[in-house]
Amino acid sequence: MSLFSLANKTALVTGASSGLGRHFAQVLADAGATVVVAARRMDRLEEVAAEISKRGGKALPIELDVTSDASVTGAFSEIKEALGRPCDIIINNSGMSREGWYREQSEDDWNAVIDTNLTGVWRVGKHGTNAMIEAGVKGAIVNIASITAHRTQLMTAAYCVSKAGVDHLTRHMALEGARYGIRVNAISPGYYKTAINDDYLDSEAGEAMRKRVAMRRFGEYRELDGALLLLTSEAGSYMTGSTIVVDGGHLLAPL
Ligand SMILES: NC(=O)c1ccc[n+]([C@@H]2O[C@H](COP(=O)([O-])OP(=O)(O)OC[C@H]3O[C@@H](n4cnc5c(N)ncnc54)[C@H](OP(=O)(O)O)[C@@H]3O)[C@@H](O)[C@H]2O)c1
Repeated sequence: MSLFSLANKTALVTGASSGLGRHFAQVLADAGATVVVAARRMDRLEEVAAEISKRGGKALPIELDVTSDASVTGAFSEIKEALGRPCDIIINNSGMSREGWYREQSEDDWNAVIDTNLTGVWRVGKHGTNAMIEAGVKGAIVNIASITAHRTQLMTAAYCVSKAGVDHLTRHMALEGARYGIRVNAISPGYYKTAINDDYLDSEAGEAMRKRVAMRRFGEYRELDGALLLLTSEAGSYMTGSTIVVDGGHLLAPL
């Protein structure tokens, strides 16, 4: 297990106030990392940090809006002040969706999704990478993409395009980060029930979709732990620019 240990590491998880991000923060803390839990809802983050310390881990809640450059730079300054160094690990997990036919969506719908899901990853990635370089930290960044990066889905054009962008941005970040010893990889989850999709997954259409997953079920959060720990620990020391799909075979759905 020492191969996957994150002892003496610090990790930033964006979107840690709910769903997958909250789970990722717990997994990284259980592996030994001090975790900065970041998002807009501070009350939720304080709950997450309390849960982590109850299990014997260390967590620091920080308010962060990934759509604001001032908020992102402010969060990195706060991290440096509180921990005395930048994070070794960054999980770019914040995300949202607005559903609708692309021809009917407003510019605001399009921009909100792209700004949060794609530009937010670039923004946090940029400032996080610079902080690592400045302090000589050889870090690991994991971007949370989606299987919608690789296929289409009705009424979510902006979301799917944002995730395809995250997948490709990951390779560029990896290419440019390698010379500084910074590894950048992505995880493309299939479907896991969270606030982003529970209405849909519980609907008739969601049930029909479940039957198109090769394994005939949605994922459980714990089924992402292996990919997360591989990409953040020494176990993944020669991995960069990769995207790991964890989807129960959903992408295998025959045409
Ligand atoms: N669930 C799935 O099946 C699935 C599949 C593939 C990919 N994903 C991806 O996994 C990630 C997590 O999603 P989830 O399913 O766990 O949904 P979720 O429970 O709705 O979590 C989304 C998180 O993103 C944060 N967030 C949204 N806008 C933000 C902003 N402007 N600044 C900072 N944080 C922001 C939210 O926190 P605040 O509202 O407190 O800011 C929340 O913590 C997303 O990138 C999503 O696209 C999920």
